[in-house]
Amino acid sequence: MLAEPYKMKVVEPIALPSSKQRESILKRAHYNLFNVASQHIYIDLLTDSGTGAMSQSQWAGIMLGDEAYASCRSYFSLKKAVAEIFGFRFFLPTHQGRAAENVLFSSVIKPGMIVPNNMHFDTTRANIIANGGIPLNLPCKEASMPFKDLPFKGNMDTKALRKFLSENHAKVPLVMMTITNNSGGGQPVSMKNIKKASKIAHDFGKPFFIDACRYAENSYFIKVRERGYKRKSTLEIAREIFSYADGCTFSAKKDAIVNIGGFLAMNDRKLFEKCTERLILMEGFPTYGGLAGRDLEAMAIGLFEGLDEAYLESRIAQTRFLAKGLRDADIPVVWPPGGHAVYVEAKRFFPHIPQAEFPGHALAIELYREAAIRSCEIGSVMFAEKGPDGKMKHPKLELTRLAIPRRVYTNSHLSVVIDAHIKIAERKENVCGYKIVRGSGPLKHFNAWFRPLK
Ligand code: F0G
Repeated sequence: MLAEPYKMKVVEPIALPSSKQRESILKRAHYNLFNVASQHIYIDLLTDSGTGAMSQSQWAGIMLGDEAYASCRSYFSLKKAVAEIFGFRFFLPTHQGRAAENVLFSSVIKPGMIVPNNMHFDTTRANIIANGGIPLNLPCKEASMPFKDLPFKGNMDTKALRKFLSENHAKVPLVMMTITNNSGGGQPVSMKNIKKASKIAHDFGKPFFIDACRYAENSYFIKVRERGYKRKSTLEIAREIFSYADGCTFSAKKDAIVNIGGFLAMNDRKLFEKCTERLILMEGFPTYGGLAGRDLEAMAIGLFEGLDEAYLESRIAQTRFLAKGLRDADIPVVWPPGGHAVYVEAKRFFPHIPQAEFPGHALAIELYREAAIRSCEIGSVMFAEKGPDGKMKHPKLELTRLAIPRRVYTNSHLSVVIDAHIKIAERKENVCGYKIVRGSGPLKHFNAWFRPLK
């Protein structure tokens, strides 16, 4: 196996707080890891979003950034990169992915409209709700089989999509597909599924949009897992993916390996004009969209670095290293691992903690307590909601996500993470559940306060 296709030129020190300090930090943060100051984190796996290490070319691009208010040179660098990879006729830079979502949804959703997706991420879901719409998840059945070794568990249930559209098409402004499926374990979507979902959307006259955050990782999975793509480059695969779509929302903080940035792209001129008006109101002039010129330049360079196959091979191998290390230690991880993160199935890890007491959150807290590791719950804290009968509806999976920042940690760091899980497993009967004492709504995971139930 080859090592990472890069070496370190700049390093940032990190340190492990003492166990006494960790305990008091947790208490002061009201047991919400978003509240822990990052200098108190040893290994930060909260997210892979905006946390990557930029390359020397990207830093050089930062210096070359053109800060003219209108029509800056860096806008055209980005425009060229977007046209080359994504191929859409129009694009609008935004400061990050959720801004692209808001510009899009506020332009197309009327109250009561429904947006189907393989699985919405939390900001997509929240932006649809905030604009009066209803998010609908149509994952394939295998998405809720966390241990079944299948190549494309991020797929959409296309039969369910056809059925839904045949009954409700008047209420649907567009169909979406999230690649890779972050909320469903970071699992990829096959080209076949993308093509089929696109065809169904078009059969009903609906635009097909892609939430393209991790399109490069998804392209790599298609290359190595889907028949007929082995000899195609990830760039060719990406182009084919987007050829089936009418537009996309994109957070460049993931596969374009920048610390901030995103865009919205589409083919429809009328929609573009409407979105441009919204963008000026919400983000800024259409050639900078809430970013500095230097950010546009770094994004243009990062888009190609994120598609580099040597990089993608090493990234996916690193994610697999963590997942395999955990699985070998009998920690229940979603299998096969996805691209950007490893997901621990916390309900199975802590069978004594009911879903109403947030087993995924309990594991996230224990990882901090054990080794100052920060992870993220993707389970009932994020997704449980009251059904029409007033009863709490919990998601199928209670996951704790270990997201791996791009080009930041070595496998030694990840070995520390594996060891921490092993130590927690040894004392797991003593781990308790949590109660939310403050915070509500679809984004409560960011600011809720918790109390241990012990
Ligand atoms: N869509 C998906 C699939 C995402 O994973 C995210 C962000 C967004 C949209 C929104 O992008 O953060 O640039 O506004 N996911 C991050 C995460 C926050 O940790 O998974 P953004």
